[in-house]
Amino acid sequence: AKNVGILAMDIYFPPTFVQQEALEAHDGVSKGKYTIGLGQDCLAFCTEVEDVISMSLTVVTSLLERYKIDPKQIGRLEVGSETVIDKSKSIKTFLMQIFEFMIKWVDSTNACYGGTAALFNCVNWVESSSWDGRYGIVVCTDSAVYAEGPARPTGGAAAIAMLIGPDAPIAFESKFRGSHMSHAYDFYKPNLASEYPVVDGKLSQTCYLVALDTCYKYFCHKYEKLEGKQFSLSDADYFVFHSPYNKLVQKSFARLVFNDFVRNASSVDDIAKEKLAPFSTLTGDESYQSRDLEKASQQVSKPLYDAKVQPTTLIPKQVGNMYTASLYAAFASLLHNKNSELAGKRVILFSYGSGLTATMFSLRLHEGQHPFSLSNIATVMNVAGKLKSRHEFAPEKFVETMHLMEHRYGAKDFVTSKDCSLLSPGTYYLTEVDSKYRRFYAKK
Ligand code: ACO
Repeated sequence: AKNVGILAMDIYFPPTFVQQEALEAHDGVSKGKYTIGLGQDCLAFCTEVEDVISMSLTVVTSLLERYKIDPKQIGRLEVGSETVIDKSKSIKTFLMQIFEFMIKWVDSTNACYGGTAALFNCVNWVESSSWDGRYGIVVCTDSAVYAEGPARPTGGAAAIAMLIGPDAPIAFESKFRGSHMSHAYDFYKPNLASEYPVVDGKLSQTCYLVALDTCYKYFCHKYEKLEGKQFSLSDADYFVFHSPYNKLVQKSFARLVFNDFVRNASSVDDIAKEKLAPFSTLTGDESYQSRDLEKASQQVSKPLYDAKVQPTTLIPKQVGNMYTASLYAAFASLLHNKNSELAGKRVILFSYGSGLTATMFSLRLHEGQHPFSLSNIATVMNVAGKLKSRHEFAPEKFVETMHLMEHRYGAKDFVTSKDCSLLSPGTYYLTEVDSKYRRFYAKK
């Protein structure tokens, strides 16, 4: 199979959200902390009728319907998620309700990296000798919720479904990949009675940047070995990052510019070189702690950021961190903003999952053939329409919902309000969890 990659995509996020500005006032933090400090606009969240299973049922059904795919054409279905509803039964098995026959594979979990693990599995399957000629589907689904405190505004929720096969408009350049994995307690979920993670915010930021540097190093090394020339930021048109919050994305791209400076790559002009020169002697550790370097590199990278990163930031800023779906929601933002203009372009993605594991990889885009074309993917996803038809909640109502969800997490023997008035037609919702913890869903 040639040009294996993403043939089609759809995204779902809950229609319920809070404004970060309202949350700042409610939480009593200084004005601008969440909107400018973290760079976030809104935060989407599941109410008691939605969860990672309902969102994935919604998005997979929509993917099949909107691209007119017969479920019999699907040979493999994988889910990436870090939202634990059941310690044994995979989310994938819930999705079997849509299919009446055998479909291979299960779930992948490692914080926000699970979706990427599932995606690589599926692409490798289509590229392998065990491929049976059918399509694969990869689902990334998460509800990111944090306990009250500084991490809470970095929550979010969404599910993304991607159809995988040959001759894709979004093709993997599988030979260019750089990975980094190590043991860290930056963000983890050891308390099985709670949906909330334990998070060391500062450590997670440094772990993310160290992983980024290392992946970029290996990525460049691979490229140079295979292409016989140096890789620099000029060799790709767009850079897409796992997006816990936008400020970290700004810092990450600035970090790549600093990497190019240190590597003496052609993407860094003389003015930038001059501004970054004072930092050329910093050790690795010092460079992660230097506020002056952070400021200087962000300033120097601003024009390149606006061109190569800004078009990827819409959904992560509007919805928040979507864990496994976050990177692919950023990529969906790019498709939404640029669609057919992306034909011929190279896009680099950086996936990060705490704990930790990370990969930088490359995609090459082509217009493709309807219905698997860049412009049709943008039309089907209807990002602008979905954002516009949302319902704003007051922070008090958001906090109230979080309290109810804490109560419901791991609980049995309850029925939900079954209130689906805010959901659009075709959306799945949770109706009941019975005395044996079995979950029941309905479709609006
Ligand atoms: N106006 C403008 N900016 C402000 C204001 C204000 N009024 N107040 C604060 N800021 C800035 C700060 O200067 C800081 O910016 P900087 O990073 O450029 O210095 C930023 O806002 C955040 O403020 P902090 O005080 O550093 O924030 P805090 O420590 O309270 O929390 C954190 C931030 C650590 C990101 C927290 O939200 C968190 O733990 N989130 C979850 C962990 C996370 O997402 N990690 C990322 C990788 S791991 C993963 O994906 C889950």
